[in-house]
Amino acid sequence: MIIALAGKGGVGKSSISSQLILQLSKKGLVLAVDADPNTNLPDKLGLNAEGTIGEIRNRIVKDPDIVPKGISKHEYIATEIRKAMHEHDNIDLLVMGRPEGEGCYCFMNNVLRECFSGMIKNYKFTVVDNEAGMEHLSRKILPRADVLLLVSDPTRIGIRTASRLASVASEVGMQIGRRILIVNNLPGDLPKELADEAKANGFDDVAAIRHDPFVYSAGLEGSALRLPDDSELSKGVASIIKMIT
Ligand SMILES: Nc1ncnc2c1ncn2[C@@H]1O[C@H](COP(=O)(O)OP(=O)(O)OP(=O)(O)O)[C@@H](O)[C@H]1O
Ligand SMILES: [Mg+2]
Repeated sequence: MIIALAGKGGVGKSSISSQLILQLSKKGLVLAVDADPNTNLPDKLGLNAEGTIGEIRNRIVKDPDIVPKGISKHEYIATEIRKAMHEHDNIDLLVMGRPEGEGCYCFMNNVLRECFSGMIKNYKFTVVDNEAGMEHLSRKILPRADVLLLVSDPTRIGIRTASRLASVASEVGMQIGRRILIVNNLPGDLPKELADEAKANGFDDVAAIRHDPFVYSAGLEGSALRLPDDSELSKGVASIIKMIT
């Protein structure tokens, strides 16, 4: 199952992604993809990350001779991607890194897309934490999303913005299964006004996550988001997992 998270800046995509990844890893092997050039999923997960897909791409575009004679570019890239993968328990973490520099990247992106499609089959869950601009989604490196989770702040305008972003993903030709709205950082229960706004904007389902003091303190400390099971974010994410699995 491929789960992609999107939403405007600072709404909680990476915090929610990290909890999803941690909780789903108890159910099966998870491919965690940090598709934000300002990588912060590894920090939130408390995992190390060194190589990025962007670095591999740039190395090959700058110096095509780097590919050893006798193996295809495709094989070489697939091996390099495996090397850049950070494996921890039931989580394999892949960091996309910085976007393209100068030069022609069409070939590289096609190869990446193929490698990615092949790799995803080995995982029970793939979770993609996107940047606000969804650059990687628009490069169609991700073949499809069975579930697109649109994260919003608890406002009607925020929900409309999330709905527009969902349309962008469809417009660039990405196949999307369910579109679920997550209203994050709520001071209490989901108000009827916001539930109605979600319905009016055509989301298939709505999930709610309350403001979580544990997330706030982890942010102050700059530490990984390892939360107690009864914290608001943990509970909210557990209910989303029930909704989608
Ligand atoms: N439910 C919550 N309760 C309390 N704080 C939260 C909650 N969700 C997110 N935050 C805080 O909001 C801030 C932004 O969260 P996060 O980095 O997850 O958002 P993002 O959408 O990934 O941002 P960006 O667009 O920059 O990637 C962080 O400081 C995080 O700790
Ligand atoms: Mg983020």
